[in-house]
Amino acid sequence: MAQLWGGRFTKATDQLVYDFNASIGFDQRFFAEDIAGSKAHVKMLAKQGILTEKERDDILAGLEGIQRDVEEGTLEITKEYEDIHSFVEANLIDRIGDAGKKLHTGRSRNDQVALDMRLYTRSQVQHTQKLLHHLLETILHIMEENTTTIMPGFTHLQKAQPITLAHHMGAYFEMFRRDEQRLGDIYKRMNYCPLGSGALAGTTYPLDREYTAELLDFFGPTQNSMDGVSDRDYLIEYLSALSTIMMHLSRFSEEVIIWNSNEYQFIEIDDAYSTGSSIMPQKKNPDIAELVRGKTGRVYGALMSLLTTMKGIPLAYNKDMQEDKELSFDAMDTANGCIQLFDGMLETMSFNKDRMEASAKHGFTNATDAADYLVNHGVPFRDAHGIIGRVVLYCIEKNIAIDDMSLEELKQMSPVFEEDIYDAISMDTCVNKRLTIGAPGKEAMEKVIESYKEYVQNCQNVF
Ligand code: ARG
Repeated sequence: MAQLWGGRFTKATDQLVYDFNASIGFDQRFFAEDIAGSKAHVKMLAKQGILTEKERDDILAGLEGIQRDVEEGTLEITKEYEDIHSFVEANLIDRIGDAGKKLHTGRSRNDQVALDMRLYTRSQVQHTQKLLHHLLETILHIMEENTTTIMPGFTHLQKAQPITLAHHMGAYFEMFRRDEQRLGDIYKRMNYCPLGSGALAGTTYPLDREYTAELLDFFGPTQNSMDGVSDRDYLIEYLSALSTIMMHLSRFSEEVIIWNSNEYQFIEIDDAYSTGSSIMPQKKNPDIAELVRGKTGRVYGALMSLLTTMKGIPLAYNKDMQEDKELSFDAMDTANGCIQLFDGMLETMSFNKDRMEASAKHGFTNATDAADYLVNHGVPFRDAHGIIGRVVLYCIEKNIAIDDMSLEELKQMSPVFEEDIYDAISMDTCVNKRLTIGAPGKEAMEKVIESYKEYVQNCQNVF
């Protein structure tokens, strides 16, 4: 047990208590951020005349040595230390002696951990944004190739109206673009430096908090030291954004699973992204999509856990906050992994275009357009709706599509039908006459695709 405190204690910590309290098992994840924060702090202390230049240089060299040794594997982060902050400080003192004891001047582990977690989360937010950006590129590529690939659009999971694959993919482009932008918003709000908040009430040392914030690439220092040490809103926002991303991925996964089913066969998942069954040789399972859908619950869980952990905490720092780490790390790893895996699956997936078009054709997805044809020839919409309803019933009984009916059969339903009905209800017409902004018609889609291309090329970095 190597602890940073103990002066006012007369007894050693019980081992179970020590283990229960320790965070080194998981907070070593932000070792690099802890070192970076300490380096900035020390530079600021020297600039303010609180440390000498020699002390600063010794500490910086010591910190760099620790970082190098850990990265090269010659120094191990062990459970002997309570947390990553103690590990770094104890090693620094071992290495450079008394100057090392000055590192913690004007600082508390409360603002230190607040800084480390914020720095780590900030880089994760950027990482998620990059992964999403790549996913957007993958989706856009599929869109560009499929502006004429007809498929059924669904409501209530029932075939509704014909759309194109580009149009369907475009809906996901919109979702993931909002997610990407949401991360940018979070970044803007979270990028303030809590270091210098002290334990809760700032410090009597003349710290230059603006300078430390600048060294660590923050927009500036946080403005209230109690909030500085106890704010975890940015994490909640990030977990909420990750939950929304997972919800989108989960909906998409559900569609992949349906499209991959024997009944649909709209897609073929690449062998590299599917798995087999130990007993049924014919199986090729969409496990990646199922796992992404399943892991969504885990990320939601992290958001609920942290909200619940935070809800009863009085100001300022309380040890409850140590609980922010494991669940957040798990959610970050899970969501980032899912984006990457899903992206790879999508990139390598092939689309069975003939099946998609045939499915649209045989699902009466042109029924609305058939009714519109009658309306355009003077039949009131409500009557047209009734006539086409009877047409559909007739087709179901005969197991045919509307287009398969002869003109004679159609005329029996309504004398208004003429030869041009076939062109009016062809899949191609149904889709390409829908040209309002956001609709699937080829010309409308092409305009949207142009704007997406511009977005993908120019918004590499939304921060
Ligand atoms: N491991 C602690 C955490 O994660 C670091 C801060 C400890 N501060 C304290 N006063 N005990 O929150």
